[in-house]
Amino acid sequence: MSSGFYLLYLAASVLFILALKGLSSPETARRGNLYGICGMAIAIVTTLALPQINSYALILFGLMIGGIIGAVIARRIQMTAMPQLVAAFHSLVGLSAVLIAASALWAPESYGIGISGHLHVGRLVEMSLGAVIGAITFSGSVIAFAKLQGIMSGKPLRFRGQHIANAACGAAIFLLLLAFCASESKTIFALMTLLSFAIGFALIVPIGGADMPVVVSMLNSYSGWAASGIGFTLSNPLLIITGALVGSSGAILSYIMCKAMNRSIINVIFGGFGSESAGAGVSAGGEERPVKSGSAEDAAFILKNASSVIIVPGYGMAVAQAQHAVREMAQELEKEGISVKFAIHPVAGRMPGHMNVLLAEANVPYDSVFELEQINNAFASTDVAYVIGANDITNPAAKDNPQSPIYGMPVLDVAAARTVIFVKRSMAAGYAGIENDLFHRDNTMMLFGDAKKVTEEIVKALKH
Ligand code: TAP
Repeated sequence: MSSGFYLLYLAASVLFILALKGLSSPETARRGNLYGICGMAIAIVTTLALPQINSYALILFGLMIGGIIGAVIARRIQMTAMPQLVAAFHSLVGLSAVLIAASALWAPESYGIGISGHLHVGRLVEMSLGAVIGAITFSGSVIAFAKLQGIMSGKPLRFRGQHIANAACGAAIFLLLLAFCASESKTIFALMTLLSFAIGFALIVPIGGADMPVVVSMLNSYSGWAASGIGFTLSNPLLIITGALVGSSGAILSYIMCKAMNRSIINVIFGGFGSESAGAGVSAGGEERPVKSGSAEDAAFILKNASSVIIVPGYGMAVAQAQHAVREMAQELEKEGISVKFAIHPVAGRMPGHMNVLLAEANVPYDSVFELEQINNAFASTDVAYVIGANDITNPAAKDNPQSPIYGMPVLDVAAARTVIFVKRSMAAGYAGIENDLFHRDNTMMLFGDAKKVTEEIVKALKH
């Protein structure tokens, strides 16, 4: 490869790093996306211009099919279905790593990496790592997709001796990897890859639906490392760098999510979280507990008479696509001289930054959006907390009940506000499947209904 190619690859890598930096804040996310697009365009054109490429027909055909499918999906996908889409895409990265490793083993001459039967041990290690990590990523992502899409039960599926079986399978893969590197046997390679597909499946099946976003981000990290491993096989520096960027950013994201839920990655993988389901509205003793509920007009009256309001969006706002109605409500209140702020919990919704993206889409100004640490103390001096489609992220059990599965997770202190308005359709539990005691408190008013419809009714009442 001539130095011109290296320079272009370097430019693409720098653009990818700038893209990641840009994506870390809603203000710069658009620019970050643009950097990423430019980086990828340079990467594709440079790779297509490499002297090793001797036929374009198949490549262009593949690009066309992939491009059309990608464009159609991107236009049609709902924000709420984004986590499963990401899982599905990761499965493809994993599968390509396996296929490239296999084709490099079967036809090393075409890749210019040596002669079949006499490959350098370093090449064999790279191929095995690409194939093993890629296979785990593929089957794990397929299961994550099936759970998030509702094709498979979100409940953790467990059986006796599961961890021992997984450990034995892991040890067998390691031994097969050593044997493959020593023998270059294609049969051992196939066996090792098949076992890796199996362990990816076995590792993700026992994880509950509630932990899937963390798992998806972990698999994202795996897919990056698989791509990086394959970059060594193909002697492609850009693939090595890009894979490492994906690998490390996915790992950091998993860490941030675990920290926001006060869990460890080990607890996510082996914890079986999300299996409990307490009947909401029913106390531990089994008797019904009273709740106060009101209408949209009641809510409009309370809001209009407030001097400060904090809006707490959650997954239900995303489901109802209520962000535009919420922005309109905030504008109506501001017209009355009421201070309106938005409080974002780090794991509100189903993926990192879920609420920020929705609010940005509805043109909510960034300076009225605050993170948990910035705003949590302000609830005590706020008249109304308007909690729209959020549940777990406000649940005081995370602070008060050591038996709760969400114990230790930082939560938004909405109960400290003078009045809490909870907008949701029923008394049903949130993602963690546990009851929220706040619904029964004296300063809480439940406002039952679809988040968008109810908020639009409030806007109407505020206007009159
Ligand atoms: P949840 O606790 O899931 O609560 C959402 C609430 O929205 C539900 O109780 C539901 O009640 C209500 N809802 C659903 N559709 C609605 C609609 N159309 N209109 C009005 N309300 C609606 O959400 P949250 O408070 O955002 O918490 C997020 C949860 O996901 C946490 O447990 C978190 O740990 C987990 N999680 C998040 C992430 C990331 S990265 N965000 C990652 C892993 C896990 P009804 O059915 O009664 O309406």
